[in-house]
Amino acid sequence: MKLEHTKVLLPLAAGCGRLPPEQLPIQRMIFLLGGSGYVGQAYQQLLRAKGVPYRSLQRSTLDYTDPQVLLAALRRDRPDFLINAAGYTGKPNVDACEYDKTNCLFGNAVLPGRIAQACEEAGVPWGHVSSGCIFTGSRPDGSGFTEEDTPNFTFRQNNCSFYSGTKALGEEVLAGSGNVYLWRLRIPFNNIDSPRNYLSKLMNYDKLLDAANSISELDEFVAATFACWENHVPFGTYNVTNPGAVTTREVVDLIQQSGVCSKSFRFFTDETDFMNTAASTPRSNCIMDSGKLLAAGITMSPVHQAIENALARWQSSPTRTLAP
Ligand SMILES: NC(=O)c1ccc[n+]([C@@H]2O[C@H](COP(=O)([O-])OP(=O)(O)OC[C@H]3O[C@@H](n4cnc5c(N)ncnc54)[C@H](OP(=O)(O)O)[C@@H]3O)[C@@H](O)[C@H]2O)c1
Repeated sequence: MKLEHTKVLLPLAAGCGRLPPEQLPIQRMIFLLGGSGYVGQAYQQLLRAKGVPYRSLQRSTLDYTDPQVLLAALRRDRPDFLINAAGYTGKPNVDACEYDKTNCLFGNAVLPGRIAQACEEAGVPWGHVSSGCIFTGSRPDGSGFTEEDTPNFTFRQNNCSFYSGTKALGEEVLAGSGNVYLWRLRIPFNNIDSPRNYLSKLMNYDKLLDAANSISELDEFVAATFACWENHVPFGTYNVTNPGAVTTREVVDLIQQSGVCSKSFRFFTDETDFMNTAASTPRSNCIMDSGKLLAAGITMSPVHQAIENALARWQSSPTRTLAP
């Protein structure tokens, strides 16, 4: 069933009670899954800043991974839209997924299918936080992968990390679902120091792998994805990365120029050196094309500018100790 974007009228704040129905302000209510996580917290901040009513569900209080439980909640609260920021990410990095495959597979591949089932039955459109890590490299001409390209870092190619494989499976599970956005996030960062922030990670690692990537400023990501819904952009897959690509060395140069961190960064000789000494599983390094999002009228700042902005507004964590 193809849904149209819908809006519901919620009870009004005191003082507006005598307005005729056609003048009532239109309110929306959002369900947020995974709101406790790194990406989910950014959504909570956005929704609070915009004054959009939402309900953040946590598995510990409402097991949204059970489709019948989620369906009952959707039918009871009748949200206009659901955001799925739940999923399994390895901590401190993707290597951890190799050692917790059951949870990784469930969170990234099974759960999206269950949410799709509940949302379809309840008639609630939704958005899923996917990942650009299902690609490696760039198109043969050096340009970024578009939404038309088939992911090339997946179990089907047998060349990927377990994490990337499960994220690609999650997209396969949702292929053909009509009323869902698949938003591909890549290597999130912003101005808040955090073990999950790409800029913090670079500052903390002993040695770095130089690679070119398209990456996503987290606050711009959540704003852009929510704008898809607000602006009635057609459902489908979107690469939600800051336009362009940046190498690790370029990011390090920007960090040093900003004065946020002055340590001298060391680099692995190449990917083989990195794999032999520091990693258990291959990394996705890839360039994405975010032109489809732009064509839909949603802009994000160019990647180098986004990094400069984050560093200019950098908020250090008082507890962070930088590696020498
Ligand atoms: N962070 C990144 O670098 C990155 C990059 C690209 C894409 N993504 C995607 O963005 C989504 C959110 O990532 P995140 O970094 O915010 O993750 P996170 O900090 O680990 O939070 C994810 C949340 O998902 C919920 N969850 C549901 N099922 C889960 C399961 N089986 N295992 C673990 N958590 C589960 C948990 O919330 P409750 O238990 O409270 O319900 C958890 O707090 C994921 O789908 C991830 O693949 C992340």
